[in-house]
Amino acid sequence: MASVQSLSAAVHQRLAEALSAAVPESADADPLLRRSDRADFQANGMLALAKKLKGNPRELASKVVAAIPANDEIKQIEVSGPGFLNITVSDAALVRTLAARAADGRLGVPYKTDPGTSVVDYAQPNVAKEMHVGHLRSTVIGDAVVNLLEHRGEKVVRRHHIGDWGTQFGMLTQYLIEHPHELDHASDTAAGDGGADVEGNAAMARLNRLYKASRVLFDTDPEFKERARDRLVKLQGGDAQTLGLWHKIVDESKIYFQGVYARLDVEIADEDVVGESAYNDDLHAVVKDLEESGVAVRSEGALCVFFDDVKGPDGTPTPLIVQKSNGGFGYAATDLAAIRNRIGDLKADTLLYVVDARQALHFRMVFETAQRAGWLPEGAARQLPFGTVLGKDGKPFKTREGETVRLVDLLGEAVGRAAEVVREKSENLGLSEAEITERASQVGVGAIKYADLSNSMTRDYVFDLDRMVSLNGDTSVYLQYAYARIRSILRKAPEGAEPVAKAELSLEPAERALALHLDDFADTVAGAADLYEPHKLAAYLYQLASLYTTFYDQCPVLKAEGGPDQVANRLFLCDLTARTLHQGMALLGIRTPERL
Ligand code: ARG
Repeated sequence: MASVQSLSAAVHQRLAEALSAAVPESADADPLLRRSDRADFQANGMLALAKKLKGNPRELASKVVAAIPANDEIKQIEVSGPGFLNITVSDAALVRTLAARAADGRLGVPYKTDPGTSVVDYAQPNVAKEMHVGHLRSTVIGDAVVNLLEHRGEKVVRRHHIGDWGTQFGMLTQYLIEHPHELDHASDTAAGDGGADVEGNAAMARLNRLYKASRVLFDTDPEFKERARDRLVKLQGGDAQTLGLWHKIVDESKIYFQGVYARLDVEIADEDVVGESAYNDDLHAVVKDLEESGVAVRSEGALCVFFDDVKGPDGTPTPLIVQKSNGGFGYAATDLAAIRNRIGDLKADTLLYVVDARQALHFRMVFETAQRAGWLPEGAARQLPFGTVLGKDGKPFKTREGETVRLVDLLGEAVGRAAEVVREKSENLGLSEAEITERASQVGVGAIKYADLSNSMTRDYVFDLDRMVSLNGDTSVYLQYAYARIRSILRKAPEGAEPVAKAELSLEPAERALALHLDDFADTVAGAADLYEPHKLAAYLYQLASLYTTFYDQCPVLKAEGGPDQVANRLFLCDLTARTLHQGMALLGIRTPERL
């Protein structure tokens, strides 16, 4: 089914048409329709227009009202104050529009009219290292952005640009050559068949051991350090034995990453994991092109790109270093090669990078360089920068020992906390231990994701588990409970009581408020997708659950005093609310258990 126009869009359209009929010279003036407390909507556009035309706003507003043809959407419209319009829509139109939305599997969310191809670069942890809260943000935000874009019909290519090509791989592979059994599984305590999670933890334990042991040697034994440096040259030069060992390390890391993703309930496909190393063969071409075109210049042996407005504290320019003076390539070179691949080969229209805001300067320089080189159309690449996760002290989140917090520890703690909540709340549901565990993971992981997504992504936020799993307030648990409660009402409905929209009924205030908000779903999803703002959807869903709570308190559903039609219509509102919550949460990557 095609998209369903919201009632607010229909009213907006009527006003816009009336405006241009009443004042032909105002052809594209916006009536500025907003939700309002006084009536359902308020339109403020007449004020600015009257000012522009040097006319009287109240007069103009009356003219617009007179130009609206008879219709059954607008129940009442009146000029108020200095020249606003207060608009009340009819209950019948409201229920009819919602019925059309409910008849559509996508709940009326429109496809984009001009979908293109977007490459989304997200969930990019570093090989042989633990994932931390920064990787949490990139994974959770990236997943939601991908869902939203795909839902709008955009073709999305996922790219997990993992850090698999840094200088430490010389050290790690050299150590493996000298200690061939270091990555062996024999010394593991974990059982073999424990699922992605247990396997992942065991893999990380092996990598940690390897990392620590080689680091010690690297820092204390100058000859080993020298051999590690030579080994890096061999690796980057494609030496088969070194590459084999490097592969072993990467594969081990991938097992670990998949364990974390499984716990986080996100799907990452292996073919989308295209790390820094994948661009190795293109790096020389990148350098050659940049040097020949003069976009980059040699400076003290390094290949650099300079920017007028990027300077260090002492005023000397800070360049983007594409190739180091020893010939090595870094982070910038692989990012440039990736841009050529994504625009040139994957034919992407838009490149999105879900990366920590602290890397903003890097991306600004990389994008600018790629543009100067003619590889990247202006405005086609964009970082979606995210803020820092803070501890309760307001400083970047660290353990008590001052170390970065491991993502797996956070997840474990959140799920543990969620288990307490679930156990307490669901006492009379008679859940089995396995069901409690499953729900605890959906509630705990949902809590972490929602807390992350409900803030505008550029903002820093405080990691506070108590608040995140609270049943009251702007949390996923609150939304999950609202959903489960509705599902329980729907299950309890007696035979013959079906959710059916009844447009001839008049609505109670709490029903109208809920219905008007339901009317906004598709417009909200479209906006959140097009502007890459998942928090707008989160805010919408929270308000939906709150309005539902008020409705539930004020309007009995199964015992509605107005008889079977009112029961049917209220069940309809319940059902549409549940489906909206479910679809909205799914777009955010959060589960909505049927019973909680
Ligand atoms: N691996 C990097 C990190 O952990 C993030 C990579 C971001 N993506 C990119 N194309 N540079 O900080």
